[in-house]
Parts: sequence; C-alpha cells; structure tokens
Amino acid sequence: MEIVREYWFKLLRYWRSSLLFRTLSLLTAFALTALLIVLPARSQPVVLSFLMNAPEVPTLRPLIAEFEQKNSGIKLNMIEAPNASNLVEDLNTSSFLLGSSPYDLINMDVVWLSKFAAAGWLRPLEDLVSKAELVNFLPGDIEGSRYKGKLYRLPWRTDAGMLYYRTDLLKQAGLKPPETFSDLLQTAKTIQQADNKVQWGYVWQGRQYEGAAAMFTEVLQGHGGFWVNPQTNEVGLDRPEAIAALKFLLSTIDQGVSPPGVSTYQEEEARRLFQSGNTVFMRNWPYAWELLNQAGSPVRGKVSIQPMVHAPGQESAGSLGGWGWGIASTTQHPQEAWKAIQFFTSAYVQKQTSLTGGYLPSLRSLYNDADLLKKYEYFPLVLKVLETPALRPQIAQYAQASDILQRYLSAAVSGRTSPEEALQAAARETRSLLGA
Ligand code: GLC
Repeated sequence: MEIVREYWFKLLRYWRSSLLFRTLSLLTAFALTALLIVLPARSQPVVLSFLMNAPEVPTLRPLIAEFEQKNSGIKLNMIEAPNASNLVEDLNTSSFLLGSSPYDLINMDVVWLSKFAAAGWLRPLEDLVSKAELVNFLPGDIEGSRYKGKLYRLPWRTDAGMLYYRTDLLKQAGLKPPETFSDLLQTAKTIQQADNKVQWGYVWQGRQYEGAAAMFTEVLQGHGGFWVNPQTNEVGLDRPEAIAALKFLLSTIDQGVSPPGVSTYQEEEARRLFQSGNTVFMRNWPYAWELLNQAGSPVRGKVSIQPMVHAPGQESAGSLGGWGWGIASTTQHPQEAWKAIQFFTSAYVQKQTSLTGGYLPSLRSLYNDADLLKKYEYFPLVLKVLETPALRPQIAQYAQASDILQRYLSAAVSGRTSPEEALQAAARETRSLLGA
C-alpha cells in the first residue's frame, strides 16, 4: 500500500512540474474516451434497406447472404414489395414525399428514372463510375439510366417484350411462326379449331397496370404509331395507327383467340395459363422461359421465342424494360450503398440471376457466356430486338402519362368504351398533362 501511495505522489509531483507530461496524459485520456465512444458504434454494421419486387426475392436472397459474408460491416435489409412495377414505384414515391426515405437503395424500373431524378430523390453516380466501365453495359440500359445527361442508375438486368410460341403445335399444324398481327390471329385460330385440346390462341397483359402500357407500346410501334415524342411532347395516341393497334388487341378477345380474362392479366397470369399447355402464343418478358422449361412443366422443350409481330410494311418492336440500382439522395450511407451496387451489377451476380431467375443481363460480355448461351438459345435474338426497341416516353411526367393510358386501355379492353373514344380521351388528357 505504502509503495502505491509513494508512487502516486511521485506521479503527482511530476504532473505538476512537467508541461509535456501533463499534455501527453491529457491527450491519452481524451483518445481513450473517444475510443470508448466510437468503438461500440463502429462495430454495429451499417444497414441498407430497399424494396424488392416479390418474384425476385428468392433469386436475390442467397446472393445477399454472400455479399454480407464478404462485407461484414454491411447488412442488406431486403423488403418484399408487390410485383407490379407501378405499385413498387408508389411505395418508393410516398416514402420520399413523407420526408427522409427509409430506403437507402432503389431498385428502379427504367420508366421511373426521369421522375425520380427530376424530383431530386437520387444521388448522381457520375463520380463513382468511369466511362470505360459504362461501355461494358448495353447502350439502351445506360441511356435509360440518364436524366438530363447525368447518370442516376446502374442497370443489373435488361428486359425486352417478346412473343412466345408452341413449337409442337405449329409443327403439327404445318404452320410457320407468324410475322404480322393478322398472321398471329389466323395461326392461333387454325390451331384452336384443329385441336380442341388447345383452348386459347394468345395471352397477353390487359390489366390496368404498368405492364399493359409496356405491352401496348410494342403493338403501337409495330403498327407504325407512337405514344409521346419526348423531344416535342407531341402525343400520338389518337392517330389511326394507335387506334388500329388497340383494335388488334380487342379483336383477339372478340374472335375468341384470347380469353376475356386477359383484361385482368399481369405477366404471371399469362405465364401460368400458357404453361398449363392451353395456349398457342404468349406475349411476355424473357424471365418466363426459365419457368416454362422447369422440370414438370407441361410445355417444357416445346416453346420458342421470337420478336413481336408487326403490321405489313412495319418492323417488329419489343418494349425495352429493365431494372437498375440507384442511391437515395437521403441515405446516410452512400459509400456502403455504392459497394452494394457494384456487387449487384457485377458480371458474377448477373450471371447467377440469369441462370437461376432467367433475367437478361445488362452486361454485354454475358451474351457470349457459354453457360448462358447453352441455357438460353434466344440470347442473340434478344440483342437484335434491343437494337430497335419500343421505348416508353422518357419524360418526368411518365407515371401520370402511363396512368392515363392504362385507364383508357383498360376501359376499352373491358368493353366499357370504344377504342376511338378511349384513345381520344387518353390523347386529350395526355396533352393537357404535358401542357401541349
Ligand atoms: C418488367 C419490365 C419493366 C416493366 C414491367 C411491367 O418488369 O422489366 O420495365 O415496366 O415488366 O410489368
């Protein structure tokens, strides 16, 4: 005890006499206190939250586990959202409108970008990714990720509307795949009549939601028409080509080629009916291929894909879809968010999500990947379709414009309005929206 006391007095004397000692001991005490405060906070991982469309959740889950294992300081909180793109968009929009969004990352449909960027909800990515890196992506996906020249999104999967058909049924009937809209109707009817086991000729998406707008753009462009010219704000919905496009869709129902239920179908309803073996043709995105060819699927090995049909003298057009990652401007963790984006857009992850979820990669190199080409023989065809895609208008008011079109398409498809009345009203409302 004596020794301790003596030692303590010595220390005190030394403390009084030496300025250097006083300074050093104060600094040490300060550093220790700071460490005690900072250390526990630092050992808590950063949590990044984001919404993910329900069907994509199982594909991403194992990849998220892999990311977290490699990045022990980051946790990814994936929140399951509805399937329809416009519903997920609404959830993200209302969270931004309420102030600081709880989401750090935004998995964005290509059609949300202009609105989200114009509203200031996204952090520009210019300083994070070099031009040389961007060249590795499909040009349409990068174009769709820019607003007023700035990049706000990095794509992890592209999409293209395609026409699926049953190779076995066409072969049995001795028919070629259709090229025009009327070929499609005729081929479908011939097969429906020849083989009464196939009840329906064509399934597509007619519900009031974003998928119907995407589907309509390709029928519209295939008739030589357009929706909105983003350069001039000109609206083409009441032109003869647009009315012919809608009449084609209605004729599929009137002629018994499509079930009246298509007026309530999204992608999955169409896919399930087609997969049950009961339909000749289907309009859908490439994700369906993987499911159609699963073990136990009644149509496994009996399906092929081709570009959407077109009117005589026009070209086929596939709607450009696709998803990419953006960083919420309100996040406290932009660096960690960028780490996650680099992972989700990497060739490794894109190959996995393509193999397991059937998604189309946005990286060009993967279209030469032997494993993917073995599984997806239609990849070269998709690249060709994406050279001249049908684009939904890249305008900041896209969500409202799409909502108008969806409402009037639905009114016509469910027989509440004539195609002319529907499209004239849609054109009028769109013009007033755009101030034209
Ligand atoms: C797909 C497309 C997306 C589109 C949506 C419509 O997810 O990738 O762009 O908006 O389908 O249902």
